[in-house]
Amino acid sequence: MTGTLDHERKPLLDTLTAYAQSGIYPFHTPGHKGGHCAAPEIAALVGKRGLALDLPAMTATDNTLHPTGCVREAQALAADLFGATETFFLSAGSTLGVATAMLSAVPPGQTIALPRNIHRSVVAGLVLSGAVPRFIPHNVLSECGALGVTVERLAETLDMEPRPAAVLLTRPSYYGLAGDLTEIVALCRSRQVPLIVDEAHGAHLHFVPPGGPVPALAAGADLVVQSCHKTLGSLVGSAQLHVGNRSPIDAMQVRDALNFLQSTSPSYLLLASLDATRHWLWREGRRLFATAVEETKRLEDEIETMPGLRVLRPENDSRLRGHRRDPLRVVVNVSGTGWTGYEVERFLRTEYRVEDEMADWFNVVYLFSPRDDLPARERLLAGLRAVSSSPRPRRGDSQFIDERLLQPPTPPLALAPREAALGRKKVVPLDQAAGQVCAEMVMFYPPGIPLLMPGERVTDDTLDVCRQLRSAGAHPYASDSSLATIRVVDH
Ligand SMILES: Cc1ncc(COP(=O)(O)O)c(C=O)c1O
Repeated sequence: MTGTLDHERKPLLDTLTAYAQSGIYPFHTPGHKGGHCAAPEIAALVGKRGLALDLPAMTATDNTLHPTGCVREAQALAADLFGATETFFLSAGSTLGVATAMLSAVPPGQTIALPRNIHRSVVAGLVLSGAVPRFIPHNVLSECGALGVTVERLAETLDMEPRPAAVLLTRPSYYGLAGDLTEIVALCRSRQVPLIVDEAHGAHLHFVPPGGPVPALAAGADLVVQSCHKTLGSLVGSAQLHVGNRSPIDAMQVRDALNFLQSTSPSYLLLASLDATRHWLWREGRRLFATAVEETKRLEDEIETMPGLRVLRPENDSRLRGHRRDPLRVVVNVSGTGWTGYEVERFLRTEYRVEDEMADWFNVVYLFSPRDDLPARERLLAGLRAVSSSPRPRRGDSQFIDERLLQPPTPPLALAPREAALGRKKVVPLDQAAGQVCAEMVMFYPPGIPLLMPGERVTDDTLDVCRQLRSAGAHPYASDSSLATIRVVDH
C-alpha cells in the first residue's frame, strides 16, 4: 500500500509538540502566546494543549510555501499513502485546492471543460484564473442529481475550438455517485489534457474495500482535491491537493499557483490534524472503513425493509450503469411515504435528534464514518421506521420533475467569468434582467446546479426556470436571497 517511508512518524504533530514542550517563551506570533495572552474562553474552546500547538510558520515549524522540514515530510508521507507524486496540505478546504488546480492547469484566457454540477469554488477558480468554461452535457436523474459525464460527450467537448486546456469533474457527486474514469482518463491522456477531479467528498475512497468507486488518483487523474475534513476525520477546513503520477502539470506549477492563494499563516492545528489522520489511517484505515462499510450495508438493508423507503443502489438501477456509489453515503428515497425529504429531515432532527448531510424533495442523505455512535444509528432507524409507518397523502411536487428544472438550460456565455465578476455591477429586478450579462452566481438547491454564472447572458428561459424553482420551494443562493433582484454587468 505504501512505499519506503516511515509511516510511524508524525512529523508535523511531533514538531509542534516538541516546540510547545521546549520551555521556550514565544516573543513572537501568535499574540495568544500559547494561551497566556488570550481570552479565557479560547482556552475553554480549544483546550490548553490545542492552544500550545497553535503555532505559526517559523524556523522550528517549517512553512507551507517552500517547505523543507516537517511540513515537507508530512506531505511526502501523505503522497506516499494516497499514491500521489506530491501532496499539498491545505488549511482553507478544497475551496483552496480547486482554485489552485484551475490556476495551475489553465493558462489565462484559455478554456476548461467541465460539467454543470460544480461547487462554487470552481466558479471562484474561473474568476481567479480567467479561464473560460465550456460545459460538458450530462444527464440528471430526479432522485439523485447529476450523473457522471460520458466519454462520448467529453470527446465532443474537447473537439470544439478553442481546445480546452483542462477538464474538471466533480466526483463523487453529492449523492455519492461516481462514474467510471477509465475511458475518461485514457481520452484526456491521448489529448494531453490534464484531468482535475474535485474529490471533495471522496478522500475516504482510498480506504473503502473494492466495490466502491475507484479513487480518482488510482484511476489516473492528474490533480485531485480532497476535503479530508469531510470524510476522514481531520479538522474542519483541512484538505489535500494531490498531483498524480503521470500529471502533465508538474508539482512546481501547482506550488506556484498555491502560493498566490494560500495564507502565510495557515492553521498548524489543521495541518497537524492531516498528519495525525494520515498516521491513523495508515495503521487502521482499511480495517476501520471495511467495518464501517459492513455496518452501513446492514443499516441500508434494514431501511429497505421499511415500506415506502428505498436506498439508492446503482447495482439495482439500470439508469445508473457505469456508476458506483460511495458506500458510506446513504441516500434514502422517501417519496414512497408521501413525505418530502425536507419533512423527514425536520422530523428526525426534532423527534430523534439526528441530523442529515442534506435533504431534497425526494431524499435524505446520511453520511457514515468509522466508529459512528451506535445509539444514534438506532435513533436514525427508529425515526425512519416512524416515517415509514405513517404515510402521508402524496402532494403535487411532481411539477418539480420537469426536465428543465432538473437540468436547467445553460445560458450563453457573453463575457469571461473573470471580467463579469470583477467589473462594475448594477442591481436590476430579476424580471427585467433578460438580455443582461449576469455578474454573480445564482444557484438553486436543489438541483444544486448553477442557473447563472458570472458572464452568462440572462435568458427568458432561465428566468422562467428561476420562477418555477422558487414557486416549487427550492432555495436560491444569490446576493438577494429572495431573488427579487440580481446583479448584472454595468457596461
Ligand atoms: C463538490 C465540492 N467541491 C468543493 C467543496 C469545497 O470544499 P471545502 O468546504 O473543503 O472548501 C465542496 C464543499 O462542500 C464540495 O461539495
